Amino acid sequence: MAIVSSTVINELKSTIKAIAVSGKGLLAADESTGTISKRFNALNIACTEESRRNYRELLLTTPSLEKYISGVILYEETLYQKSTQDISFPELLMQKKIIPGIKVDKGLIQLPGTDEKSTQGLDGLFERLKDYKAQGARFAKWRAIYSIAKNTPSRLAIQTNAEDLARYAAICQETGIVPIIEPEVLIDGDHTLDRCFNVSAEVLHTVFHKLYTHKVLLECVILKPSMVTPGNSCLQQISHQDIAEATISVLKQTVPSAVPTINFLSGGQSPLQAIQNLNAMHQNKTILPWNLSFSFARALQEPCMNAWLGKAENRNMAQEIFSKQVKLASLASVGKYEHGLESKQK
Ligand code: 13P
Repeated sequence: MAIVSSTVINELKSTIKAIAVSGKGLLAADESTGTISKRFNALNIACTEESRRNYRELLLTTPSLEKYISGVILYEETLYQKSTQDISFPELLMQKKIIPGIKVDKGLIQLPGTDEKSTQGLDGLFERLKDYKAQGARFAKWRAIYSIAKNTPSRLAIQTNAEDLARYAAICQETGIVPIIEPEVLIDGDHTLDRCFNVSAEVLHTVFHKLYTHKVLLECVILKPSMVTPGNSCLQQISHQDIAEATISVLKQTVPSAVPTINFLSGGQSPLQAIQNLNAMHQNKTILPWNLSFSFARALQEPCMNAWLGKAENRNMAQEIFSKQVKLASLASVGKYEHGLESKQK
């Protein structure tokens, strides 16, 4: 068990309780400036501090967001920005009883001696978390990536990333911040479903071993994994059912039942694929020990950003589209999405 006081444990548990709610998921709106620039540039949207603020305000002020979303992961810039009504974004979320969170890793760097990546941001993390907490953040996110190729991910990359995820999680818990642990097995490549299954199993086994070693309290973490899918250039024909079965099977083999909630990333699947795969996981009749929901960025935001295009006159339409997408993901998180609903839903 983590060496944190009972007051801090209670604080962590109350955050988890507010997040792991059946039928609700997380919105990842924590794209770094580099990542959101790429997304905006692709749509010819000017990327400035003000256009990013405008876009994030559009997302966060979408009517009824709180019916489907229990927490939002913000980027550091957004955590300190304010709405047009001069309310800080974390405060705006808290008024809707949505928990504000923050991406705390500082991005990817080359893992020396390899062509793989590790994640930076541990130095000074304890102090940064205290500032983020004062600003309203109650949970955090750290993303590690694993690329599948003939000789990767290497044992070194798997071990190093797991160690860093565990150190990050322990530091978060010490400050009363719930850590989202995000080991993303990338979808890029022509690998098969089986290969992704095997890599995901090894990655998750190693992550949970390191979490144990670093005395992380498993009851107070959120796991944010990728779904088990074939690579995006693999020609294998795979159903949502196959993906759901492989994903659940890997999770059952590797994730202790003490973990309260698993919230998937969408990882470059189309928005509909991600929603249908999550929905298929809930068709499985066996009882799962964890809440199983979403923490999507692209699968929630893509249709909305495409509709907005940086133009004030598109704002209402973009919010409506966003609201529909969030509702579809919410339905999928309890297995109630039905085929074709995306075109019918008003
Ligand atoms: P996607 O859902 O677009 O994969 O993003 C999730 C995320 O938070 C990546 O770190």
